[in-house]
Amino acid sequence: MTLRINLLTLLVCCMNLFAFSTLHAQQQSFFPGKVWNDTDGNPINAHGGGILYHEGTYYWYGEYKKGETVLPEWATWECYRTEVTGVSCYSSKDLLNWKFEGIVLPAVENDPSHDLHPSKVVERPKVIYNARTGKFVMWMHIDSADYTKACAGVAISDSPTGVFHYIHSFRPNNGMSRDQTVFVDDDGKAYHFSSSEENATLHICLLSDDYLTPTQQFTRNFIEKSREAPAVFKHDGKYYLISSGCSGWDPNQAEIAVADSVLGEWKVIGNPCTGLNADKTFYAQSTYVVQVAGKENAFIAMFDKWNKTDLKDSRYIWLPIIIKENSISIPWHESWDMDVFKD
Ligand code: GAL
Repeated sequence: MTLRINLLTLLVCCMNLFAFSTLHAQQQSFFPGKVWNDTDGNPINAHGGGILYHEGTYYWYGEYKKGETVLPEWATWECYRTEVTGVSCYSSKDLLNWKFEGIVLPAVENDPSHDLHPSKVVERPKVIYNARTGKFVMWMHIDSADYTKACAGVAISDSPTGVFHYIHSFRPNNGMSRDQTVFVDDDGKAYHFSSSEENATLHICLLSDDYLTPTQQFTRNFIEKSREAPAVFKHDGKYYLISSGCSGWDPNQAEIAVADSVLGEWKVIGNPCTGLNADKTFYAQSTYVVQVAGKENAFIAMFDKWNKTDLKDSRYIWLPIIIKENSISIPWHESWDMDVFKD
């Protein structure tokens, strides 16, 4: 009897130990397109997102998609939507294991006219740090449910994990602003990239020194080419911009362009994706490029693999950008780890 109890106790202990070690197992590799759990064991919920690297920690901000996906009755196109719940934040030391830091810009439920009301659209949030003011500044796409408002919104915080205080939304230089990102150059100047003019032309605008407002200095790029989902990085003195075509939640072919200066001329290189389903961006859409801290030549392209009829169940595709002397490519990998950047 005692032996049976002891054996039972041992078995329970072993099972607990196994469960504990599985729960806390550190993720070592990226598995593009597969469910990616946070350190609590819940699927990471940060879509259309971007990364801020600040004082040794990465922060991933994105759209927190919850609840049912609906196609509004009045829809004349596939504007599938979920109610706005806010912008989420996760933190990580290694870009692989992410801790949920909460909703850092929550929806405003009691005011139907507010930009952050659940009935509105809040997409593609990106956060940058202003070294002069010591503030964290979030830029995002703010829209009405039918996407006719076409504005940029700005929020501010004293800490990377919020809470962010929403300031307002506007059309930069009176131009429409939908898919968007922000980029901080080595000299501290920041720029807003957004699909404007009914998404036909991409505007790039220098921001004010405090990063809170657009200046009047802006350029029109890829005129009438309908590029969206901009993701920007700088390597070896040149600027690169990955974008998608304009087909709503459906995938299309990515394109990369290069420029000698942010407000200079952008030249299209072509589709950087290679391998399985490269002509459809692996069934995903660009959102951001993150540089691996402390490495010269290590960049990761972040894409969203949208599930348009159940948006909260959308996945992430993160892939290494392979930069060689005369080429730049984003090859498909079923799985990969940081060793790809070794040579
Ligand atoms: C895409 C855009 C997404 C979202 C979607 C709505 O073109 O990249 O961020 O706005 O349209 O249909």
